[in-house]
Amino acid sequence: MSAPLRFDGRVVLVTGAGGGLGKAYALAFAERGASVVVNDLGGDFKGHGKSSSAADKVVEEIRAKGGKAVANYDSVEAGDKLVQTALDAFGRIDILINNAGILRDRSFTRISDEDWDIIHKVHLKGSFLVTRAAWNHMKNQNFGRIIMTSSAAGIYGNFGQANYSAAKLGLLGLANTLSVEGRKYNIHCNTIAPTAGSRLTQTVMPQEMLDAFKPDYVAPLVLWLCHESCQENGGLFEVGAGWIGKLRWERSLGAIVRQKNFPMTPEAVQNKWEKICDFNDANKPRTIQESVSILHDVLSQIESQDVSLNPTSYSASASSLGFDPAKAIGQKLPSSAYDYTHLQPILYALGVGMSTKDPDHQKFLFEGSEGFCCLPTFGVIPAQSSMFSGGLSSIPGLNIDFTKVLHGEQYLELYKPLPTSGTLTSETSIADILDKGSGAVILLDVNTYSGKDLVCYNQFSVFVVGAGGFGGRRSSEKAKVTLNPPKRPPDAVLSDVTTVDQAALYRLSGDWNPLHIEPGFAALGGFQKPILHGLCSFGFAARHVLKHFANNDVSKFKAIKVRFAKPVFPGQTLQTEMWKEGKRIHIQTKVKETGEVAIAGAYVDLISSSDQPSANEPSAEAPELLSDLVFEEIGRRIKESGNELVKKVKAVFQWNITKDKMTAVQWTIDLKNGSGALYRGPARGKADTTFTLSDEIFMDLVLGKINPQKAFLSGKLKVKGNIMLSQKLETILKDYAKL
Ligand code: NAI
Repeated sequence: MSAPLRFDGRVVLVTGAGGGLGKAYALAFAERGASVVVNDLGGDFKGHGKSSSAADKVVEEIRAKGGKAVANYDSVEAGDKLVQTALDAFGRIDILINNAGILRDRSFTRISDEDWDIIHKVHLKGSFLVTRAAWNHMKNQNFGRIIMTSSAAGIYGNFGQANYSAAKLGLLGLANTLSVEGRKYNIHCNTIAPTAGSRLTQTVMPQEMLDAFKPDYVAPLVLWLCHESCQENGGLFEVGAGWIGKLRWERSLGAIVRQKNFPMTPEAVQNKWEKICDFNDANKPRTIQESVSILHDVLSQIESQDVSLNPTSYSASASSLGFDPAKAIGQKLPSSAYDYTHLQPILYALGVGMSTKDPDHQKFLFEGSEGFCCLPTFGVIPAQSSMFSGGLSSIPGLNIDFTKVLHGEQYLELYKPLPTSGTLTSETSIADILDKGSGAVILLDVNTYSGKDLVCYNQFSVFVVGAGGFGGRRSSEKAKVTLNPPKRPPDAVLSDVTTVDQAALYRLSGDWNPLHIEPGFAALGGFQKPILHGLCSFGFAARHVLKHFANNDVSKFKAIKVRFAKPVFPGQTLQTEMWKEGKRIHIQTKVKETGEVAIAGAYVDLISSSDQPSANEPSAEAPELLSDLVFEEIGRRIKESGNELVKKVKAVFQWNITKDKMTAVQWTIDLKNGSGALYRGPARGKADTTFTLSDEIFMDLVLGKINPQKAFLSGKLKVKGNIMLSQKLETILKDYAKL
């Protein structure tokens, strides 16, 4: 065991030590041999009034236990006087705990000048003044330990605490610089953001939390940080309830949005936004030097950009910003998550022409119908979201003019029927880039997952007008190829009239290109009016096959490949000709009014009965609750962990997940028995902690959109049993934002 940490001979000044946290620090330091100045103005928690009794009582208590203490009743705004008390009584000052504090909580616009000023005077200026008064004494003796008291409200923001948050985070800035300036004099300055039951928190914390979060659970961190043997300097710690965590800054790898010899534009920022905000592989700069060092790299990277790739080396459309296929092939786009409810599949079904006129379409249009399901071609929607969120422009070597991009071909393969709601995650990569002379074809492979299950694969072939002629290959083994239909007359023909609003409706599924709605924009692209989305005609064609050859049974659908040959205008009739060749249905979709082929070289593959999962296999039933996916993942993590989680957590958690105020499902996470388990239903023995919350709040919690304490205090999360154990759930719930 390590030797007890003692403070004999040390003089400690604790501001606001008449109650709450300050009192706990003063008692703890005195108990371990320090001489303590107990400062307290003795006013109320809003900063009104003053009295000597608060400080006196603590001094009495220390002395009664045989410790050394004197009182000081000044406000921290008289910094010198506090330090003078230490010098007069004990001849030196070694340790300073800036702790005094008050609250003036108001929603932002109701904060008066006085509310703002007094909070800053007590917290920020008070800490500055007392610290400045102590600084030279510490410097001369080559020893000093200083604590600044910040708050989670400053770090994360908290409703009604704008004045307090600003002052509290100001303290962190002050501490950061003092830690730099004090280092060579052995003066260390650290910051804490405590949580404790005190008169400041009694209006916001329920009694059980006030009782549980004792100031005594914060004091030991303060003592350790102030001990001569502790080398920590410039740290920030959250502390409460017996737990301590350290915080640091994290910075995304970011993106360069400027090109040599070109103006930097807000559009470039917009296009790189996802990359700028992507915390994968983030770094953690610790000093200002580490922070700015990246800027030198950035300058040299921009300087070394190859400007020989100027606009004239490609046609005007492959912009000078650098189209470098070799660099781009194999690159991955940032993964994208697509959250949806039953609304999106229904909107999509309407977008591709389904109608309540056809009783067969009911199961695609009404979430309450028996067998409600997604059209298989809905699988393109989550897959395209990563591209539409600017992902393509984040790829090195793919700086192309996106107004000159045409959707050439599409392949979609389903591995299981698509869930009717949930979150699908898509991983997109540049499979290849082909040189077609007049343009380049970019092949994008997109794998879409529900949890860990691969649900579908898409290949988008994107034609970039004018970007060809770079000396690349014309074809690729990675390309899913089109097939010509048999020469005989078709075995079946189905047609559907699109409405004049078809594109206006289809775009609501996520393809917002104005080409499909804005006449001026369409004219720029050389079209007399807005055109229908290629993927909308694709949806029509696919459902023609599904209806005629699979009786609208989505589980029979395997894959589809199409080439977009000619534009279609909303209002025209789509006529799909179909040829059956075993399980492959060749198709060709014409615009009936003109006879022009809009979709060519296309086919749909259906599943033969031998390909279908047997009745014994688990069905790919869509989860009804979003939280189901998270619990499935928790189950996987528990399995993966062997019995590590059980060793760490040693508790059973029961979850009551509600939907429309009724318990929809119960889950139990047993991390106490055996090597742990997750199962549906209430705990088989006794649960240590039971949580009741809605599916939505559960998702907000695991995705970090709402903090558990807030959810608890606002009654959205109900907790029964041992509330302190909730902390341990972090181990299994962290990183869900990546799901
Ligand atoms: P508290 O109200 O029990 O203690 C604060 C003490 O500071 C009081 O005794 C008060 O008389 C004294 N004080 C106020 N203005 C003063 C001034 N101008 N000069 C000298 N003394 C003055 O509150 P608690 O909770 O112990 O707070 C201590 C510190 O911790 C505060 O800075 C507070 O903002 C901070 N904090 C507390 C949290 C908690 O959960 N209790 C959360 C985050 C931060």
